[in-house]
Amino acid sequence: MQPRTPVTRVLVIGAGAMGSQIALTAALAGYPTTVQDVSECQLDDAAAQLRDRTDKMVASGKLAAEQAGQAHALLDFSTDLDAVAPAADFVIEAATERLDIKEAIFARLGRLAPPHAILATNSSTIGSSAVAGASGRPGQVCNLHFFNPVLVMECVEVVRHAGTSQETVDTALAFARSLGKAPVLINREVPGFVANRLMGAVQKEALALLAGGVASMEDIDATAKTALRHPMGPFELMDLVGLDVVDYIAQATHAATGDPADAPDASVAALVRAGKLGRKSGAGWYSY
Ligand SMILES: NC(=O)c1ccc[n+]([C@@H]2O[C@H](COP(=O)([O-])OP(=O)(O)OC[C@H]3O[C@@H](n4cnc5c(N)ncnc54)[C@H](O)[C@@H]3O)[C@@H](O)[C@H]2O)c1
Repeated sequence: MQPRTPVTRVLVIGAGAMGSQIALTAALAGYPTTVQDVSECQLDDAAAQLRDRTDKMVASGKLAAEQAGQAHALLDFSTDLDAVAPAADFVIEAATERLDIKEAIFARLGRLAPPHAILATNSSTIGSSAVAGASGRPGQVCNLHFFNPVLVMECVEVVRHAGTSQETVDTALAFARSLGKAPVLINREVPGFVANRLMGAVQKEALALLAGGVASMEDIDATAKTALRHPMGPFELMDLVGLDVVDYIAQATHAATGDPADAPDASVAALVRAGKLGRKSGAGWYSY
């Protein structure tokens, strides 16, 4: 497949949950894609997991074996940013959610990537304005925010900061479309962008209804599914996302807005302190 964008080579930084899937998505769309991570071990795990993922897709008839083979042939893995960044037209940074780490990566990318390259961050809570200056090319920086699981979720939020150029926005939107995604444009950086704000509003109301004794969490979840056709209820969704992540997002939002209405929820924080993080720890709001 020949992608119809000015992008010829993709670089994904960070081979974790998101970076590895973003890289596979790009390779499945026909882009030669490099995944870079500081951890060799993480790269090995990511390569094995992506093989496993495409094997399952082939076995279930969702992907032709030939397409899987072509995608893997387009993927490569490296720990050496100096070596791989000079070939990239479009970089998606999906490294650990820490500003100091991301700033250092954008500073290096600014020096190493070709002058025309677009530098995007997949961060959920750090707006690209926080790293744009370090890159030395702020006009070519934006958030390109994918959703987990990347291979399944269609939405990609393209978030511009005040200095993002229109050309960068247009290329980012076209690139996301070429991955088979349905990008949306967020015109200014607000904590949580749009999707997490909508989700947060539903969560906040669900927590207030539970705390007020209005309905049980099972019945609140059932209402979301049977009256609103949500695929899962807010408590089930929090367990899926991870209560530590829910709590972290609330803390980051609260720190950014200072609005008491955005303060982290005490019952979520208590579950996190008890080690109940949701599905991944075997218990959260529900037991698994
Ligand atoms: N997990 C989600 O559901 C989700 C959804 C949307 C966006 N995001 C965002 O995606 C980003 C990554 O999240 P994740 O869940 O994949 O994290 P993760 O912890 O699974 O992976 C992060 C990876 O970054 C690597 N890394 C750390 N420092 C690095 C550096 N200097 N250079 C290269 N690699 C480095 C780590 O070794 C690790 O493999 C975060 O910014 C997060 O906000 C996450």
